[in-house]
Amino acid sequence: MAAIEIKNLVKSFGPVKAVDGVSFSVEAGSVTGYLGPNGAGKTTTLRSLLGLVTPDSGEALVNGRRYVALPRPVTEVGAVLEATNFHPGRTARNHLRVLCTAAGLPGSRADEALEQVGLADAADKRVLGFSLGMRQRLALASALLGRPRVYILDEPANGLDPAGIEWLRGFLRHLAHVEGAAVLVSSHVLAEVEQTVDNVVIIAKGRLVRQGSLAELTSNGERVIRVRSAQAADLAPALETAGGMVERVEDGLLRVRGLDAETIGRVALDRRIVVTEVTQERSDLQTVFLELTEGR
Ligand SMILES: Nc1ncnc2c1ncn2[C@@H]1O[C@H](COP(=O)(O)OP(=O)(O)OP(=O)(O)O)[C@@H](O)[C@H]1O
Ligand SMILES: [Mg+2]
Repeated sequence: MAAIEIKNLVKSFGPVKAVDGVSFSVEAGSVTGYLGPNGAGKTTTLRSLLGLVTPDSGEALVNGRRYVALPRPVTEVGAVLEATNFHPGRTARNHLRVLCTAAGLPGSRADEALEQVGLADAADKRVLGFSLGMRQRLALASALLGRPRVYILDEPANGLDPAGIEWLRGFLRHLAHVEGAAVLVSSHVLAEVEQTVDNVVIIAKGRLVRQGSLAELTSNGERVIRVRSAQAADLAPALETAGGMVERVEDGLLRVRGLDAETIGRVALDRRIVVTEVTQERSDLQTVFLELTEGR
């Protein structure tokens, strides 16, 4: 049984089909990126998993059950949704303690969770003075309280600075790969999750566009470099000698695997070969995502 399972999920809001027959699953020990342009239906899917949206048809299951049927949800699934509201006058610690009490968890979990998200020093500060990034971390802390093994995070990188995004990457990977949790994280920015996720599900206009492992969608992360030169016939064997796999596409154009752009440049320089183009080809994943976002 998958930790998270979406089966033929359909949800309309009036004439808008927000989610139109989406299916995918997330296994324990892995991070899945749920990607799509604005309005694609990501939040609607995640809210369905949390019992906040009632699907027209299909199912959204956590640990094989609908959210409402989970005996103790906080111990099974932690969630961060968009625009989480905090009582601004409360301190970070008090905010979490209130949640602990409501969920029947020991108050000591508040400080442990603050520690985990790097907010221990701000425990006694009022949430009112928190930056957007600190609020995101606090939202994440609240998801950790019940030590769940399933995480559903809607655009958790929003508002984080580059260092915060880097921290989040490591944190999500740790949850999945070290603690064995199932992590589903949405984003409308591919680059934000590309270095974090094991699997990718892409949706647009409520429909599934592509899904697979990151390795599949990026040809195992293998970089293909296009090299253009009038002396391609001389350059190709030189690149092969340097360890590259060279495909001759057309007169003057090569596709090279196994060498980086710098090495290719050096090989050309050594042979005094003029190169007019050295470009990295986009991965399938980047191409698919770009087409979706450009088509808007
Ligand atoms: N409560 C609602 N009432 C009416 N329409 C809604 C509601 N929630 C979502 N929608 C519509 O459903 C579609 C999908 O919205 P959703 O918020 O799920 O997309 P998203 O992928 O999360 O987008 P974003 O990247 O902007 O967060 C949009 O057209 C949106 O306007
Ligand atoms: Mg959204």
